[in-house]
Amino acid sequence: MLAKKHILLIIGGGIAAFKSLDLIRRLRESGASVTPVLTRAGEEFVTPLSVSALAGKRVFRDLFDLTDEAEMGHIELSRSADLIVVAPATADLMAKMAQGHADDLASTLLLATDTPVMAAPAMNVRMWDHPATQRNMATLKGDGIRLVGPNEGDMACGEHGPGRMAEPLEIVAAVQEALVDGPLTGKRILVTSGPTHEPIDPVRYIANRSSGSQGTAIASALRDLGAEVVFVTGPADVAPPEGVETMRIETAQQMLEAVQTALPVDAAIFAAAVADWRVAGASNSKMKKTKGGLPKLEFEENPDILATVSQMDEGRPSLVVGFAAETDDVVDNATSKRKRKGCDWIVANDVSHATGIMGGKENDITLITGSGTEDWPRMSKDDVARRLADRIAKSLT
Ligand code: CTP
Repeated sequence: MLAKKHILLIIGGGIAAFKSLDLIRRLRESGASVTPVLTRAGEEFVTPLSVSALAGKRVFRDLFDLTDEAEMGHIELSRSADLIVVAPATADLMAKMAQGHADDLASTLLLATDTPVMAAPAMNVRMWDHPATQRNMATLKGDGIRLVGPNEGDMACGEHGPGRMAEPLEIVAAVQEALVDGPLTGKRILVTSGPTHEPIDPVRYIANRSSGSQGTAIASALRDLGAEVVFVTGPADVAPPEGVETMRIETAQQMLEAVQTALPVDAAIFAAAVADWRVAGASNSKMKKTKGGLPKLEFEENPDILATVSQMDEGRPSLVVGFAAETDDVVDNATSKRKRKGCDWIVANDVSHATGIMGGKENDITLITGSGTEDWPRMSKDDVARRLADRIAKSLT
């Protein structure tokens, strides 16, 4: 899938560098050629010999190596690839990238390049959580650098949390997504998906039957057409697609915050089944049975995320697509929902229990746009997703 693609792989100095050896192998298995660059600190973790043996190429190490400069200057090296991948991107390397340092070969290449860059951060959880690293990450994102990972889990240092480098196959999927040329290449699209959980107390919550499968299928279909997808998901049954930026949330309020962080985007698809209400003053301690009878729950309204984004005065995505989960008068209700919320399209579906749509594999939808309604035949959620992604591509290009 990466045939004829050329990756410049910068290996930073972290324990995760050992995974970069496997990454080289996986990238080559996908058909890519890999030119490795090893930082001084990287050499403490993996040897130049093993890196070059796996890459089948010499490894570049030194900014002031006259042999390198005679063969290929660092400027040319920085621009000769289809994509530069920094893995592991250590806290130090990310800081250098964010600040624009150029004091060694890796940072100089990253500053001199006009090639897209992807970074796979890897560091101790406290270093990742540190405001300085979070600032640097935001700067890098703003500079258009794609990030893959980090993942959460046990770390080599014995701690647990976010900071583990993404697995080699996840990085390969992200590389494929970045390099795939499709009608949505260069477009950034937000997809919300799954249910939300609204807490009653620390152990109980209010949820709904959404499995997240339609939203996940849409995110995958948009990715396959080349879009850079930001996927904001509640606690769904299905795993998020690979090769997309995933933001996991639980409540509607958290979903709104995540959506606002993800903006600006070219299009936003709101497939999530967001709870309309949350429990007012959810208890911080577990509610106990008391003799005084059943507890009374008070509710307050959640923010309407779709309406908030549809009605933005500045920075509104050019295309906003909502879903309408209805059980009665599907098209009428969905048509007025489109007007009320201010979105461009509504994907209406009948979620009555008998249809088996909520949580099922198929969907039966009516697409309502400014120019009318279209009934689509019942089909798999994957097919709905592909057809919708094609329509989105036509509307954005
Ligand atoms: N939606 C949202 N935020 C909410 C509620 C809904 O973003 N707080 C979005 C959903 O993601 C979906 C659309 O609005 O795209 C419609 O959701 P639906 O549940 O059908 O509509 P409601 O706004 O809840 O209206 P009602 O319950 O009156 O049918």
